[in-house]
Amino acid sequence: MSHADPVLEIRNVAKQYGQITALTGVNIQMFAGEIVALLGDNGAGKSTLMNIMCGALPPSSGEVLVRGEPITSLHHAQEMGIGMVYQDLALAHHLTVAENMFLGRELRSSGLAGTLGWLDSARMDRKATEEIAHLGISTLRDVRMPVRLLSGGQRQVAAIARALMWSKAALLLDEPTAALGPKQVALVLETIKTIAAKGMAVCLIAHDIPSVLAIADRLIILRRGRIVRTLPAAGQTVTSVVSMMVGENDDAAAA
Ligand SMILES: Nc1ncnc2c1ncn2[C@@H]1O[C@H](COP(=O)(O)OP(=O)(O)O)[C@@H](O)[C@H]1O
Ligand SMILES: [Mg+2]
Repeated sequence: MSHADPVLEIRNVAKQYGQITALTGVNIQMFAGEIVALLGDNGAGKSTLMNIMCGALPPSSGEVLVRGEPITSLHHAQEMGIGMVYQDLALAHHLTVAENMFLGRELRSSGLAGTLGWLDSARMDRKATEEIAHLGISTLRDVRMPVRLLSGGQRQVAAIARALMWSKAALLLDEPTAALGPKQVALVLETIKTIAAKGMAVCLIAHDIPSVLAIADRLIILRRGRIVRTLPAAGQTVTSVVSMMVGENDDAAAA
């Protein structure tokens, strides 16, 4: 497999919810080290598309391939390296960063005579710390900190670290900067850039267009379930992006 092969590929995906067509004819290729932003008005199909990309939602037709292999389920996609961070993060606030990173996959010391061993907190703390250092994340200094004591931005970063602990090919983020103050947004954007620089393919949904323009390499614009534009982020402005999202210049372009 050459460097230029896509990490994640969406081929001719459509999705119907009963009578509602949420997506039609969607084709996307995502490459290692690239940050792609999905943009579009409410109801354009962004969340549906991202849920299909991570294997959580089956498409009505078409397929999702990871390094050329079709994914069959959320679990399979995870095993193939697709990490997803949902908008609500789904972190357990009373648990530590390390405990969250191992939630559902806890390490245990070997038990006597086939019994289940104790939770090996020391080993999980050590591995979580190594993982965070390996990802180049600098904002989570102590993995023994309960998540409830972290800032909003640090929580988002902890959710990213948890996804990447298990899946290292692509990272999908639904609204990673929603409801954060400017400093926290900067922290999250810096983390996302670091992750992409490590060679992961990143895809994010965001309404905050200045943030998107600050980090994205490529913009994919959805309108009513279709991709209407795919273009480099460089040179675009908030105004130009918004007009593509709402389709202001379509008539002019068609004329
Ligand atoms: N579970 C669902 N059942 C029925 N319709 C849905 C469901 N999820 C989304 N839709 C519809 O599909 C379309 C795309 O929704 P969505 O993917 O959430 O868009 P976006 O994330 O861009 O706002 C909308 O018309 C929405 O009402
Ligand atoms: Mg959505």
